[in-house]
Amino acid sequence: MVLEAKGIKKEFSNGEVVTPVLKGVDFAVQDGEFVAIVGESGSGKSTLLYILAGIDKPTEGDVVLLGKNLKDLDDKSLAQMRREDFSFVYQFDNLVANLTVYENITLPLVLDKQKESAFKARAEEVANYLGIGDTLKKFPSQLSGGEQQRAAIARALVTNPKIIFLDEPTGSLDKERGRQVMELLKTINKEKGVALVMITHSQAHAEYATRIVKMEDGLLN
Ligand SMILES: Nc1ncnc2c1ncn2[C@@H]1O[C@H](COP(=O)(O)OP(=O)(O)OP(=O)(O)O)[C@@H](O)[C@H]1O
Ligand SMILES: [Mg+2]
Repeated sequence: MVLEAKGIKKEFSNGEVVTPVLKGVDFAVQDGEFVAIVGESGSGKSTLLYILAGIDKPTEGDVVLLGKNLKDLDDKSLAQMRREDFSFVYQFDNLVANLTVYENITLPLVLDKQKESAFKARAEEVANYLGIGDTLKKFPSQLSGGEQQRAAIARALVTNPKIIFLDEPTGSLDKERGRQVMELLKTINKEKGVALVMITHSQAHAEYATRIVKMEDGLLN
């Protein structure tokens, strides 16, 4: 089991108005699984993914990620886990504009104080694997949307994580590029055994996963 979440509730309060978004979500991911989360806009998919990855805290409930209850971790240990054991690909592209593609991809390793001599070959291998090996010296703005998305996935993959969370990795891509990214994710999952938890609006893309769950009325079905 790489992830187990139990009884996850999340409320947002805005002055006196309290909006319950997650109403007791139970969710588990086995080693090497590829799970797609679908559901209407505003149903709480991103909110759940942030909580599962420790980016946001639940109002109630527990998340056990890679054997650790996130409640028991301080910010430093969580940041270390994020650099070494799991990755997150955001809904909206978040490459750093003034860093090259190579610098973006290797950023988690630099932040982890690893030496370039130790990771250069690995970063190049991951970029080649994702078909963006020839873009490494460019800046994000010089890449197509699909290439940017693959660079974000390369950055998520370079640390050799056990699980990657992806919030609509194909949301901003056209049909063909979206399909290519999905094929890549499926290959990553199969060949490298990395567990994937991916939000998508596309039924066709959800079907690349080994399991599909739906967010509805604050619960996951
Ligand atoms: N920080 C916040 N403060 C207040 N309300 C929030 C906050 N974040 C999310 N919400 C509300 O929680 C609900 C769920 O938002 P969330 O972003 O999780 O939806 P989603 O399922 O990811 O939607 P989409 O498919 O459009 O990305 C929405 O009604 C949103 O307005
Ligand atoms: Mg969302």
